[in-house]
Amino acid sequence: MSNLISDMARSAALPNLKRAAAVLTRRLPIPQPLLLVGPGASARLGRAIADFGHRRVLVVTDAAINRLGLMAPLTAALDAAGTPYLVFDEVGADAPIPQVEAGLAVFVAQRCDAIVAFGGGSVMDAAKAIGLAAANGKHPRELVGYFKGRHGPAPIYAVPTTAGTGSEVTVAAVISDPEHGSKLVIADTRIVPDMAALDPALMTGLPPAITAATGMDALTHAVEAFIGGWSTPQTDRMALAAVRMIYRHLPVAFADGGRLEAREQMALASTYAGLAFTRANVGNVHAIAHQLGGRYHTPHGLANAIMLPGVLRFSRPQTGRQLARLAVHAGLGEDSLGTEALADRFVESVAAMNDALGIPRGLAALREADIPALAEAACWEADSHYPVPRRMTQDDCEALLRAVLPPKAAAGRTAGRKPAAVGTAPAAAGVKRAVAKRPAAKPAR
Ligand SMILES: NC(=O)c1ccc[n+]([C@@H]2O[C@H](COP(=O)([O-])OP(=O)(O)OC[C@H]3O[C@@H](n4cnc5c(N)ncnc54)[C@H](O)[C@@H]3O)[C@@H](O)[C@H]2O)c1
Ligand SMILES: [Fe+2]
Repeated sequence: MSNLISDMARSAALPNLKRAAAVLTRRLPIPQPLLLVGPGASARLGRAIADFGHRRVLVVTDAAINRLGLMAPLTAALDAAGTPYLVFDEVGADAPIPQVEAGLAVFVAQRCDAIVAFGGGSVMDAAKAIGLAAANGKHPRELVGYFKGRHGPAPIYAVPTTAGTGSEVTVAAVISDPEHGSKLVIADTRIVPDMAALDPALMTGLPPAITAATGMDALTHAVEAFIGGWSTPQTDRMALAAVRMIYRHLPVAFADGGRLEAREQMALASTYAGLAFTRANVGNVHAIAHQLGGRYHTPHGLANAIMLPGVLRFSRPQTGRQLARLAVHAGLGEDSLGTEALADRFVESVAAMNDALGIPRGLAALREADIPALAEAACWEADSHYPVPRRMTQDDCEALLRAVLPPKAAAGRTAGRKPAAVGTAPAAAGVKRAVAKRPAAKPAR
């Protein structure tokens, strides 16, 4: 009963707000960074930054990336030009607030006037939050929400080292609050980086599991932007291209990380997907994944990947036409197959893609006892922010989460019934179709 009442309250109060947001998002000018693409792009970005003549640059990264020496080409270019910089490498997974505070203190104390965000989404988002907080003299927590700062940040330059978040082109910075086990979103068009380098040479050492999870994050961005209610012709083009590129190149990058062509195409696909969702927004998958990330520290891409097939099946009745278009772009069939068959094929190909990439079907950390609260928070996030094609009720969301309980918990709950869709995936039938090898495309530069 209480589920029903809170569902009714949410569904009555929020549509008007969302309609207003839809009008705004369609018209909002969103800047796009100048992109440098290809092996060596990070060194070229270093030379460009030097030419801008900054007083002191803060290079934000994480300890693993620093240890791997991935920044060497960029810092060598800064050194060669005599540009002062310092490295802050303490960002942890999901940009926890204490580390954003520490980076902010360095930025302010050292009177820096530009930021290089060198890393995955965690690093890029920490850097964006540092920049906005410094410009406004505010705590990062005070910037959570839309346009909470008066001033834009100092110039931000981004070098993504994963192909997944698209943060190098988005208006969002997702930070995490370890005290409350939650993820918080700062949204402001002024935190879009000024320039970004997509350098596939930096990604050849990305381990397969991270390649898989981050690649599925990019796929989720493209799909949710495409099937949501705020898509535009431009976001559709970006989303369709991203889906096509991910189907062709993610299996290759996963199987052989050293393939530069596949790495570059994935970097571009992730950026395209970022361009799609930064205007068209995401949906139910992200609403749930953010709760799993906040509660269990599940890597963001992994949480999305695990939820994506179930959520697509859930919204399948409302999204047949869009899913059929995605199927054609992914190379899964021709129009002649018909909308219904193509749409089904796309949904099942996503599950097969997960299987082929070694993504588990269940989430080991998920506990039955946590599901009601996780679902409540996810429904709130989806209702208040996302133009989802099908609204989740509390019960819907709980069911989606129960479907990914780990085998033991699911078996206990169903008292001996067969846990149909849970467990580590074998390479399933249909995988071949989903990840069929195609001739590699030329880089779209
Ligand atoms: N701002 C946005 O628009 C946006 C969009 C989606 C996700 N996000 C956020 O981004 C964060 C996740 O980012 P992520 O998925 O890129 O993961 P991540 O930045 O947390 O990195 C994952 C791991 O990969 C390692 N790594 C990164 N690049 C590497 C490389 N080239 N070689 C070897 N190891 C490397 C890192 O050290 C880290 O251990 C989440 O907090 C998520 O919520 C933000
Ligand atoms: Fe994401």
